[in-house]
Amino acid sequence: MQVSDSSSRILAGLLEARTGQQLTMSRRWRIETALAALLRERGIPTLDELITILVMGREPSLALLNNETYFFRDRSPFDLLQKVALPKLVQRRQQTKRISIWSAGCSTGQEAYSLAMLFAEEPVKWAGWTIDILGSDVSECVVRRAREGTYSQFEVQRGLGINQMIRWFEETDNGWRAVEPLRRMVRFQVHNLLEPAPHPGKFDIVLCRNVLLYLNGERRAQVFDRMADAMAPDGSLMLGAGETVIGQTRRFWADPDSRGLYRPIEENEHPQIALGA
Ligand SMILES: C[S@@+](CC[C@H](N)C(=O)[O-])C[C@H]1O[C@@H](n2cnc3c(N)ncnc32)[C@H](O)[C@@H]1O
Repeated sequence: MQVSDSSSRILAGLLEARTGQQLTMSRRWRIETALAALLRERGIPTLDELITILVMGREPSLALLNNETYFFRDRSPFDLLQKVALPKLVQRRQQTKRISIWSAGCSTGQEAYSLAMLFAEEPVKWAGWTIDILGSDVSECVVRRAREGTYSQFEVQRGLGINQMIRWFEETDNGWRAVEPLRRMVRFQVHNLLEPAPHPGKFDIVLCRNVLLYLNGERRAQVFDRMADAMAPDGSLMLGAGETVIGQTRRFWADPDSRGLYRPIEENEHPQIALGA
């Protein structure tokens, strides 16, 4: 399939308008690979026809988004949550015994299920607690897959040891499916980060990893605003490796006690706190 300059410009423009994600020139090679499969799958004969469908707004598959993910991606963030952020929350939430976590831009759900495993592997410690884990993504088709919780042999092995795989996944005709107790801990919804945050709106921990990389500065700042508004004042934000809030927003500052976590700042709080990050 030949992708002309004008088609690639239109497609990149549509993607950015809908999700904020910029398809820079160096990433335009994705167009050919991502769309060839989509055209085949949907029986759409030509790229021009696909563009018409997209412009008419009838095709929500957003096939150009980068959905790369795997279980316990980069490992150390999950250790940080388990060893630093969660013990602090346990102390602070003794009254309510409720912890709310949002995996924003969760793709096919591995991040949310990894979080669920952290809790499920310590049943005694978390007995009596309500743990709400929400995974959200702008792309309907990845959310559908996340809800289903079924992964190929390759996907389930990426990031999981054999014991974890056998304990938390069962083999089915379609692949490895997260066991029901794990699926019950996680809920998924379609949500665009450019829009107001999903319910319940006061999350204790927000993970937004490897999502904001290709947003322009203005849109990224908007997303940080929305996330700060959606968090408990003592909540923590975690970004992907190499991502930071520094120089991007005044609504978060680097937690001095926990490298890799960011704390929200109220809209009108003293700006020096933000700049001190
Ligand atoms: C590279 S994946 C990262 C998945 C996971 N957070 C991780 O780090 O493994 C990025 C995800 O962000 C989603 N995404 C991109 N723009 C978005 C937006 N505006 N709102 C919500 N999700 C978005 C994409 O659909 C994709 O599934």
